[in-house]
Parts: sequence; C-alpha cells; structure tokens
Amino acid sequence: TDPASALAPRVQAAIVAALGDEFEGADPVIRPFTLKPKKGQQAVPAPAADLQINAAMALAKRAGRPPREVAQAIVDALREQGIDDLATDLEVAGPGFVNVTLADSWVADAAQDLLADDRVGVPTPPAQVIPLDYSSPNVAKEMHVGHLRTTVVGDSLARTLERLGHRVVRQNHIGDWGTPFGMLVEHLLEVGEASEEAALLETDPNEFYKAANAKYKASKDDSAPDSFAARARKRVTLLQSGDPDTLRIWERLLDRSKAYFNRVYTELGVTLTDADLDGESRYNDELGPICEDLERTGVAEISDGALCVFLDGFTGRDGQPLPVIVRKSDGGYGYATTDIAALRHRSLDLDADRVIYVVGAPQNLHFRMVWAATRKAGWLRDKTEPLHVQIGNVLGTDGKILRTRSGDLVSLQSLVDAAIEKAGTVVAESRPDLDEQQRASIAEAVGVGAIKYADLSVSHDSEYVFDLDRMVALTGNTGPYLQYAAARIRSILRRADAAETPGPIVLTEPAERTLALRLLDYGKVVAEVGESLEPHRLAAYLFDLAQAFTGFYEQCPVLKAEPAEVKASRLALCALTLRVLVDGLSLLGISAPEEM
Ligand code: ARG
Repeated sequence: TDPASALAPRVQAAIVAALGDEFEGADPVIRPFTLKPKKGQQAVPAPAADLQINAAMALAKRAGRPPREVAQAIVDALREQGIDDLATDLEVAGPGFVNVTLADSWVADAAQDLLADDRVGVPTPPAQVIPLDYSSPNVAKEMHVGHLRTTVVGDSLARTLERLGHRVVRQNHIGDWGTPFGMLVEHLLEVGEASEEAALLETDPNEFYKAANAKYKASKDDSAPDSFAARARKRVTLLQSGDPDTLRIWERLLDRSKAYFNRVYTELGVTLTDADLDGESRYNDELGPICEDLERTGVAEISDGALCVFLDGFTGRDGQPLPVIVRKSDGGYGYATTDIAALRHRSLDLDADRVIYVVGAPQNLHFRMVWAATRKAGWLRDKTEPLHVQIGNVLGTDGKILRTRSGDLVSLQSLVDAAIEKAGTVVAESRPDLDEQQRASIAEAVGVGAIKYADLSVSHDSEYVFDLDRMVALTGNTGPYLQYAAARIRSILRRADAAETPGPIVLTEPAERTLALRLLDYGKVVAEVGESLEPHRLAAYLFDLAQAFTGFYEQCPVLKAEPAEVKASRLALCALTLRVLVDGLSLLGISAPEEM
C-alpha cells in the first residue's frame, strides 16, 4: 500500500485515543508534504518530511483545545501505540501540522512487496458497470482531429477502468443514420459500388462525402422529380421506412466506413472493435414509440408543431424555456431522441452505475438536457450517474482550430502519418546502429506514443496546441521521453547477469528513497483516475516517476554498484520502475518499445 493509506488507520486510532470515542472515523487529513519555492527562490527546497497529518486543525474546535495541543496529543498517542516501524520522525509544526518522516525500512519493504504484486499496487474498488461512449465518429466523414481526442482519452479511460476491475461496455456511438444518408446512398448508387469513387469510403471518406454533397447542393433547387436532390430526399424516406434495397446499399456504405475506422484504430492501437459499435441506427425503431410514450405520459408536449420536453432550469439567452425537441414538426427525429434511447438502454438494460460520454465540450448542454429528459421520463435508474468527460479543442501552432490549407479539419490519418515520419528522423539520428526495419517499428511506436501522450498529458477539457516537433522530442514532458526511460531500464536489465535475483530492496541514498516513494503511489494514482476520469493525472505521475528514475540513475550506479547487495537492491528498483512505467503507459494506450 501507499504510505498515506498505511498511516491513515493508525492516525484514526490515535485520534480516538487522544480525543475520545466520539472522534471515531474522523478524517485523518493526510497529505503529501510539499514545499512551494519561496518568493525569488528558483528551486523547491528539499522536503523536510514525507507526509503531513492535518487533522488537528480540523478537529481542534470540536475538541475544544488549541490545534497545536491536539497535534501533540495525536503524536503522543501514535508513539504510545508504537509507530517506529512506519515513521521515524513525527514533528508538530506551524499552526498544528504533524510532519511525518517514514522509516526507510518500511519504504523498502513496501517497495519489495510491490515487486511481488502482479497488480503493482492497483486496487480493485467495488466493481461497477460502465458504458463508455467514446470515439463516435460519423460515417462517410473523415475522422478529424476532434475525434482523435475523444478516441484517445476514451480508450485510456476504458483501459484504466478495466484495470480497476470495472465492467466497461465500450459504446462507439457512430453517426450512421439521418438525412445525409439519402444523398450518400444515392451517390454510391450513381458511381457504382465497385467504382474508384466508392473505394474512397475506405481511404478518404471526406472526398466521398464532399462529392455527394456537391451534387446535392447543385441540384437542390432543381424541381425535376428525378434531380439528384429529389432522389436523395426520397431515399431518406425509403431508408427510414426500411426499404430492403436501400438498406442493403446503406449497409455497404457502413461496411466500408467500418473498415476505415478499424484501420485508424489499429494504427493507433485503440481497443475498439466492431463488437463495440452502438451506432445511432441501432435505436431507429425505438424513436417512434419513445415519442408516443413521452406524449402519452405528458412528459412531452406539442409546441409549434414539434414534440418537446420542457425541463426546469433550461432557458435560452432570451429567458425563454429551452426544450429538447424529440420530434421535429416535419416528423423527423433528431440527435437528442437517439441519445435518450441510448441512455435508456444503458441505464435500464445494461444496469449501469456510471454512463460516461467522452465527447467535445460544446455538446455539454445537449447531454445535460438529454439526461434531464430521460430522468423525467423515468428511464434513468437512481443509481445511474451520467457523466460528460468534456474534450477541448486541438489547435494549430497559430492558436486556431487545426485546419488544412483548404479550410478542412485536419484528418486524423494525416496527423498520425506525419508523427511517425517525424519520429523516424529522430530515431534515425539516435539509433544509426539499428537496421531499417527495427527503426521503422520504433518510429511507429514513438510517433503514435507521442501523439497520444500529448493528448493525454493536458487536462481533457483544456485546449492544446498540436506541435509535432515538441511532441516527438526525447526530452521534456513527452511520450518519447517516457518510452525512452523504459527502454533505458530494459537495457540495464539486459546487461545485468541473468542469475542476479533482484532485491531485497535496501534504501541508503536519498535518490533511491525518492524513487521508491514515487513507486508506492502508483496504485493510488490509477484509482484516482478511475474516479476523476482525468488521465492527465496518470501522465503527470509517470513523468515525475521517470524524472525520479533519472535522478536515481545519475546518482546511483547500478551495474557497477558494490557490494553485491547494493547492486541487487538497485536492480530491483530498476525492475519495479520498469513494471510501473510499462503498466502506466499501457493504461494510456502507449506501447514501450524494447529498444530506442
Ligand atoms: N457523432 C458525434 C460527433 O461526431 C458524437 C457522438 C457522441 N456520443 C453521443 N452519444 N452523442 O459529434
């Protein structure tokens, strides 16, 4: 376990002993001991302790005693109970903090236990069922850079929640239904299913979409009944009424789009497969009955010809109530209706504890209204908590939303290709000794890792600038830096004599201790990501860890260490660091190449 969790029950017992039974279960308020640099000071001073117990300040009033006195009473009670195995130093400081310095032997033993734990400290909280809606691109449209983040952040959350023991139900809510499919089906018919234009669906879907859209626009005002626009409109009706021929062509379209998505997922190392598809079309048959139900029960009412759910607390800019339109005045259903059906399914059928949406921040209002409407209809279980992981924009180096010269959103594919190419030049420079094929496979791992890490290391709701040069750098807070740290440890372990069993861990140098302490926090950080749904916390932790390792490696020789016990201990620290790094990177969806 991590030190704070080990200390907590002891402090709770001490609080009861010092202040009385009525303080049972009080929060011990244990925090890492951190120092901020003083004004005008560059470096953070070396911390004087490892942890701080802040309970005295919180409890003083209730105990009717000054905080410092309460702090001292807690310290005395801890000593009385016996604390030497865990902490060597307890010191009352400031207004009533207790500074705690952990015993080297406890830290060393805990690190040794971690090495034997195949979960490297990751806990298993009570398991939940979690439908996780992520990636969710649109059929016959390019996956653009916005989908990069929903895909990468969502996949990292899926991996992390699964590692914590939850049952994640991946839901790739692709846009595969609605009015554009009239023109898309009609265009596919016109160019022919076997044509080169149709093949664009798998390679450059945007071009296919644009061609269909251009035809539609050009004929929009043509009143001839067989104009492209007229046929496209008729096709929508056919599709919605389930015309077999139309459905067959629509399915062809879908298959090709799926092939395109899957190629991108494979290239990015994303865990989504066809089994995770939960497209809008899946709910098509439910939309009519849903609207009838809503109308019959009075949850929805007709307003200006449209069927609307009015909700408390949602008003437009002018103060007018802002409804969820579930059926438009022309009889069509919208994006919100489908999302109500999807949430009903996730809550009632899947019996979800949390329903998570990893989707762009601008859709937040949409989701809050969908949740409120679903709740009002009685289709959301009390236990189901819907959550929106809001995804911020990806910007170009000019600070604007990333676009190509022609004004299109930059495609995901082109970004990945560019990153791999750039990583290739970095690897060519750093490892001229490797053959071309080895370098190419490293470049792929590094390029993809660079993009994913850049995406995951900033909080998901803030914008970030897509700057390839910075992302693929081997130094700084980058994916390649972490991959490199792992590869370096692998090389140390390769060079060590295979017969050398690592450990036991013994801590003498400060850099060893710092590294070991960082390692002990891994499980806690993963658990926190599972709660807060913020993968950037794991990224920050791994970066700190890699830096702690660098500090250790600079100060403590490993392979040349003497005597043999010191070498064995340091090899164990290396092995444990590698396990945590590789495991942590895998939760971010980033691979760690053997060599770099
Ligand atoms: N297809 C949508 C888009 O590209 C995202 C869908 C998100 N998920 C959902 N349940 N609405 O914007």
